[in-house]
Amino acid sequence: MSEYKNVTIINHPLISHKLTHIRRKETSSKEFKEYLDEITRLMAYEVLKDIKLEKINIETPIAKTIGYRICEKVNLYPILRAGQGMVEGFTTTIPSARVGHIGMYRDEKTLQPVEYLFKYPKDTEKDTYNIIIDPMLATGGSAIAAINTLKSKGIQNLKFVALLGSKKAIENITRKHPDVEIFIAAVDAELNDKGYIVPGLGDAGDRIFGTK
Ligand code: PRP
Ligand code: URA
Repeated sequence: MSEYKNVTIINHPLISHKLTHIRRKETSSKEFKEYLDEITRLMAYEVLKDIKLEKINIETPIAKTIGYRICEKVNLYPILRAGQGMVEGFTTTIPSARVGHIGMYRDEKTLQPVEYLFKYPKDTEKDTYNIIIDPMLATGGSAIAAINTLKSKGIQNLKFVALLGSKKAIENITRKHPDVEIFIAAVDAELNDKGYIVPGLGDAGDRIFGTK
């Protein structure tokens, strides 16, 4: 679990193994995307563990019985670009999920987030599972800005799923938004003077999309 309230570090041997491949500098974009997709699927099981079910009557080839159906809607909000790399891991797990997009980049000099796009599913009722996804939490500034944007539209009941974060990011996000539940695969201790997580994995967006 974790020393922070409302933060779950999803610690599993399969995730640690795959995350180590992702961190390696020689890992190609193709492999990076594949490992990120696999880790996201594994994390999705934990993130969705409280999703509501309803009982339904079914018949097996042998007898009538009771089954279960997911009755809660799921909205995903990837923070572009890198969050896009975690969408498929969720949508293969829960195909009915709708996907909004939060376009945001971090200014290289100020490290402040700049929002350039926000599209969200029409249907944002109270009982929807709203999941923001972005592999990286460095200063936490982009995550905080994304949460502010969603809350300003009345979208509550938020969870944030990331691959890797810094301690500073976790502290900053939980201080500003203690109600948002965070799920993360690993937390590194430091940030360097350019705002990169150390040891981290480099720039997730560039590694996924083969840019720079
Ligand atoms: C990365 C990452 C986060 C942000 C984290 O995106 O995907 O959104 O930086 O940094 P922060 O916690 O200090 O805000 P980036 O700005 O590089 O954009 P990209 O995904 O388009 O490459
Ligand atoms: N964004 C990234 O993709 N990586 C970092 O280490 C910090 C911000």
